[in-house]
Amino acid sequence: MADKTAKLIFDDKEIELPMMSPTAGPDVIDISKLYAQGNVFTYDPGFTSTAACDSTITYIDGGKGELLHRGYPIDQLAKDSHYLEVCYLLLYGELPSAAQLEDFESRVTNHTMIHEQMMFLFRGFRRDAHPMAIMNGVVGAMSAFYHDSTDISDPWQREVASIRMIAKMPTIAAMAYKFTIGQPFVYPRNDLDYASNFLRMCFSVPCEDYQVNPILSRAMDRIFTLHADHEQNASTSTVRLASSSGANPFACIAAGIACLWGPAHGGANQACLEMLREIGTVDRIPEFIARAKDKNDPFRLMGFGHRVYKNFDPRAKVLKQSADEVLDLLGVEDNAVLQVAKELEKQALADPYFAEKKLFPNVDFYSGIILEAMGFPTSMFTPIFALSRTVGWISQWKEMIADPKMKIGRPRQLYQGETLRNYVDIEKR
Ligand code: SDX
Repeated sequence: MADKTAKLIFDDKEIELPMMSPTAGPDVIDISKLYAQGNVFTYDPGFTSTAACDSTITYIDGGKGELLHRGYPIDQLAKDSHYLEVCYLLLYGELPSAAQLEDFESRVTNHTMIHEQMMFLFRGFRRDAHPMAIMNGVVGAMSAFYHDSTDISDPWQREVASIRMIAKMPTIAAMAYKFTIGQPFVYPRNDLDYASNFLRMCFSVPCEDYQVNPILSRAMDRIFTLHADHEQNASTSTVRLASSSGANPFACIAAGIACLWGPAHGGANQACLEMLREIGTVDRIPEFIARAKDKNDPFRLMGFGHRVYKNFDPRAKVLKQSADEVLDLLGVEDNAVLQVAKELEKQALADPYFAEKKLFPNVDFYSGIILEAMGFPTSMFTPIFALSRTVGWISQWKEMIADPKMKIGRPRQLYQGETLRNYVDIEKR
């Protein structure tokens, strides 16, 4: 907490506002009393300069391209940790002891099945439904099946809902995939780790055994870790705002899934691979870079740019390395899409437009290449992002609900509409 203040001088007023210092990042000016003291609002569409909450979970230094989860850098976690350990870290604030990790993994493993009657929900969708539409519907419906973990005022129910969400999301995502390809659902197995279980639920068929390739499960686990949490991004802010009304956790996570689906956010991994495929060959790259720079063309380079990172997204760096490793290990020869991606990155980063606007590859630029090489269709890219981000949404939700300062979120507005006027009968219009 800083002991300094900021002075706001306008009209005949001079308002002194308290300032607060974080453990990392810019100081903040507390404007919560501004309206009462000065009868004015602040205006910040898209919250480019507005802190909506205080948090201890994740910190991003956009200038340095640094991402910390409870202080630990993402590249170390991606290399030395694994997804469920990162889940524990995000949820409880510290790396677990061996015993704590074993207990946590056991609790998650034993909640991976979903209520058998939920299967019928999937059959209500058309076979060509996007898996995100199915996930959104099924996750929202969880509040109709798990009544005993919807009371957010009960810490124990909050804990049960957290474990249930983290444990069941891979099962739901895999079922959404199986439903859209007309294959039977595959039950989770308790003898498999989290990433291997997901791969098996997606790719196993009754006709033959499925052996999980350890290289693939390690790459899958790393992708889960790299997408786990990311400060107050759009979908996390959606979960926080929905939760501030006291809505049940399943409904709030479904709201986060809906927001993540947008191509400007989590939907960018699917959009990026489709863009790379549309570019097709490296000789067409200049045409697309020109379109991305053209103000009259709504086209943007998918997988490029970020609200916070004005340097390389550290997750993109790890994924770029993984893309090479996974494709080599899978024997995917001269993957044309990967070649286009690397050449596009090179040409864009050399272009003054991207340099001036500090547009770098983000987490979505390389993830799709790896996921496709692993056998996933593009429609499964964002569901995998949603699966990974569930722990981030849940961790931020738990932090907010437990905060005594929590109140319902209700932004104000700059009203530009008609002022008071009287109704006019239709005969007189
Ligand atoms: C994710 O917030 C998070 O943390 C999100 C995320 C997470 O983990 O939760 O990191 C995941 O969503 C990553 C971002 C994935 N989205 C994309 O890859 C889609 C393409 N990127 C853009 O849509 C854009 O860069 C955003 C949405 C990511 C960021 O948009 P901002 O911060 O609102 O920036 P902006 O739209 O105001 O752009 C600033 C300028 C503009 O030009 P000017 O109006 O100043 O002239 O940069 C230009 C934009 O036109 N610009 C791009 C561009 N991104 C921004 N121009 C071409 N191609 C792009 N990709």
